[in-house]
Amino acid sequence: MAHAASPKPLQAHSTGPLRGTITVPGDKSISHRALMFGALAIGRTTAVGLLESEDVMATAAAMRAVGAVIEKQEDGTYAIDGIGLGGLLEPENVIDFGNAGTGVRLTMGIFGTHDIAATFVGDASLSKRPMGRVLDPLRDMGTTVLARSGDRLPASIRGAGQALPITYRVPVPSAQVKSAVLLAGLNAPGITTVIEPVPTRDHTENMLKGFGADISVALNEDGERVIRLKGRPELVPQHIEVPGDPSSAAFAIVAALIVPGSDVTIEKVLLNGHRTGLITTLQEMGGQIEVLNRRQSGGEDIGDIRVRASQLTGVTVPESRAPSMIDEYPVLAVAAAFANGDTHMPGLEELRVKESDRLAAVARGLEANGIPCVEGDDSLTVTGGAHRIGGGVVTTHLDHRIAMAFLVLGLASPDPVTVDDGSVIATSFPTFTTLFEGLGARIVETKGEAA
Ligand code: S3P
Repeated sequence: MAHAASPKPLQAHSTGPLRGTITVPGDKSISHRALMFGALAIGRTTAVGLLESEDVMATAAAMRAVGAVIEKQEDGTYAIDGIGLGGLLEPENVIDFGNAGTGVRLTMGIFGTHDIAATFVGDASLSKRPMGRVLDPLRDMGTTVLARSGDRLPASIRGAGQALPITYRVPVPSAQVKSAVLLAGLNAPGITTVIEPVPTRDHTENMLKGFGADISVALNEDGERVIRLKGRPELVPQHIEVPGDPSSAAFAIVAALIVPGSDVTIEKVLLNGHRTGLITTLQEMGGQIEVLNRRQSGGEDIGDIRVRASQLTGVTVPESRAPSMIDEYPVLAVAAAFANGDTHMPGLEELRVKESDRLAAVARGLEANGIPCVEGDDSLTVTGGAHRIGGGVVTTHLDHRIAMAFLVLGLASPDPVTVDDGSVIATSFPTFTTLFEGLGARIVETKGEAA
């Protein structure tokens, strides 16, 4: 599963105000999990609003490779006919996850306690990312890792025939690691316990409960989340309504704040508290962001977000907030370029192992566009209000969020901003350009040179 064969440079130009109401595509985290948990249930799970991006389609292909039947219905709903926990077939071919970290890490968890062999590969970005964080606990559960490359893809595993439940303290704040261990625990007899010192997005816990698993979450005396899962449940098919992805809405939110005169509403956005750190931070910076019509859908809080252009002021973002906005730092850095004063972002070590080294990629992109910043080992400080910004070419390093964040920068900069490859945007937000054009933005294909 690859992006366009050749890079597609895109250029964003400043225009008039952005105005209108949009719906962003379905949440990526929930979409991956809907396909996976549907595949592990016996019977038909249906998902409305599933994100149809390259990452999520890679997960669909992986679930088909072990026997699930996944089809899009005429009305756009996805039907997932699961094979049931324990019933996975051995895949015939190598499984290519493209750019998808969540897809590959969670799938390794599922396969790791099934008696099947599988080989995982990915694109140049995914092949640089650490897999040991998932393979290490899986080894403790009985998975054999046949990889020649140790911590990186390609990796071959043979799942445990007789899996062992474990107690695992997650050493890095990562929902992917937490989820991989819990998903491996599904097919291990007894109780798998995951201790999470720093809370991260809880979609795996919530959705597994919805599918009928016996899973509980409590706080221990140190305030850490302790998640206990009883193995070998019979998962019951569900109907899932996938809410809009707040990590995609983030680009529209920041664009509306920084393009003068804008007024944009984004409907049906997931508002799970583990995902809303960016909104809190932008409100603290003075952003006029209102959550309207807050309601529940499929066990999650959702709402409509109205954003009006605002003068922002720099802040220090609390380190403890990082997991609830971990994918949003690139676009926050863009907002910070338009704020009065400095915005300081500490606690960002995990950004170094995302689709790119995002800390470095953001810093280089800001510098290329005349925005002063200081890149620390695990922090970034951006000084807002530079005289004339834009005009640069940004290297995206196969990172969709770097591409989108810097296109947003170009919408509010006097000089246009170019990203060297916009094709990667399809991994998470295939309708990005179209939706932004509908709001009045100008994003065009170019040859990749500075304006
Ligand atoms: C995700 C977890 C996060 C996030 C990613 C999606 C998930 O990754 O960055 O986009 O769906 O579990 P980490 O677990 O590496 O923090």
